[in-house]
Amino acid sequence: MSAPITAKLLQKYSHPIPRYTSYPTAPHFSDKVDAQQFEASLLALPNGQALSLYFHIPYCDTLCWFCGCHTKITQKYQPIAEYLLALKAEITSIAKLLSQQGKNYLVSHIHFGGGSPTILSPRDFADLMAHVKTNFNLADAAEIAVEIDPRGIEDEMLKALAVSGVNRISVGVQDFDPEVQKAINRIQTFAETQQVIDRLANLGVNKVNIDIIYGLPKQTKAKIIDTVRQSLALNIDRIALFGYAHVPWMKTHQKLILPEDLPQIEQRFEQAEAVSQYLQARGFRHIGLDHFAKADDPMAIADKTGQLKRNFQGYTTDSAPALIGFGASSISSLPDGYFQNQPSLPSYMQAANDGALPTVKGIILTNEDHVRRDIIEKIMCQLAISKPEITAICHKYNQPTNQLVAEFEQLEKFAVDGLVNRHADKFVIPPHMRAFLRVIAAHFDANLTPTSTVQLQNNQQTDTSPSHKGRHSLAI
Ligand SMILES: C[S@@+](CC[C@H](N)C(=O)[O-])C[C@H]1O[C@@H](n2cnc3c(N)ncnc32)[C@H](O)[C@@H]1O
Ligand code: SF4
Repeated sequence: MSAPITAKLLQKYSHPIPRYTSYPTAPHFSDKVDAQQFEASLLALPNGQALSLYFHIPYCDTLCWFCGCHTKITQKYQPIAEYLLALKAEITSIAKLLSQQGKNYLVSHIHFGGGSPTILSPRDFADLMAHVKTNFNLADAAEIAVEIDPRGIEDEMLKALAVSGVNRISVGVQDFDPEVQKAINRIQTFAETQQVIDRLANLGVNKVNIDIIYGLPKQTKAKIIDTVRQSLALNIDRIALFGYAHVPWMKTHQKLILPEDLPQIEQRFEQAEAVSQYLQARGFRHIGLDHFAKADDPMAIADKTGQLKRNFQGYTTDSAPALIGFGASSISSLPDGYFQNQPSLPSYMQAANDGALPTVKGIILTNEDHVRRDIIEKIMCQLAISKPEITAICHKYNQPTNQLVAEFEQLEKFAVDGLVNRHADKFVIPPHMRAFLRVIAAHFDANLTPTSTVQLQNNQQTDTSPSHKGRHSLAI
């Protein structure tokens, strides 16, 4: 019989925990890691390396009060046009650097995140994409994904996306209930959302993810289920279900959300659980912590076959070992470490326009970091970890096994609460306990101290969103 999830259990594990879209997490990046080190790591990439590229567009035209992304609100286009010049300069600099040694790289994944990439004019989006294609070799089957805010998007933009080769979209929905929309300052009808998805499908762009958030102000179980019910009438393959990260001390505009309108932890849990049940009953596979995909979707297949990966976009099928992040605040993940760009827009633009790499911090991974990163990724993706896996990972990085095996054995302490079950040399997180997945992953986080749990991870990729989605949030 499975252990019940009580209010006491939820309270016990409700402290803020990283989302582990990277390990070590962004608060542990150091400003001692600079552009020179980033350059050396880029030059060390082996010939033929598959690359993944991320482009951050940190602008939106209206502010959603819940937003935790790295974005700036603007009604004018001039700042965006200027930003694009810097972004293109950064693309040119990195491509030039990579081509120096005559090596070849093939880009297998591209992701445009934000902010709202669809704030670009159709001509600028096409121009940016053309610039990327001039500077990098794209694999024929490369996935080119764009985050889309469907509000007010015009036909010309949809055509520009299709013509530029975009083949996957990630559409922000959040919640369709009018009362919730009012409380988050994001009015978005079902009809306009449907129209954007349908029009793009007619243009051949038919791989669709949507983002939904639980734990929003005024949200109830009935309302979020109604949002999911309506969403299933859209032609979608995947849903990312994020728990609202309320961090008003960091994102001060979130103070516009009244604390009394926010669901309590038990209600948050009920909402997430209800969505999971609802989607699974309708053929969706629950993947990792917070993603859902149709059974024949590549993400569901990657999950079934143990190929699922985790990066700044959350769960992904992208297996490229090197991800280069372009734009203010973007993070690159290279085989030897993480490198973050300047988050300040003026400083980023100045550096990029000067032909410099705008790296301001990062971390070079030690062998122990590599071991812990692989273990944490396995837990986050497979909901399980075994002693042979721990030993194999330690051997891969030439690390002694004793310490990590001892930590593995300590997982037993979570068994009393039902968070894990032991099967011989393996601990498994039962599916109904996946809400506590990050608690188990955090057990292997050597940097997590009681004080660091309240710091926030602030990376571009919204660490919720996915894209970029790296902030800490309540475990539930
Ligand atoms: C960059 S936005 C997506 C594209 C576009 N800007 C939009 O909102 O439609 C990425 C996603 O992050 C999620 N997100 C943003 N702030 C969040 C927060 N505070 N907590 C949880 N999820 C959040 C939302 O689901 C949002 O769709
Ligand atoms: S949720 Fe999306 S559209 Fe809203 S402010 Fe944040 S990045 Fe912009």
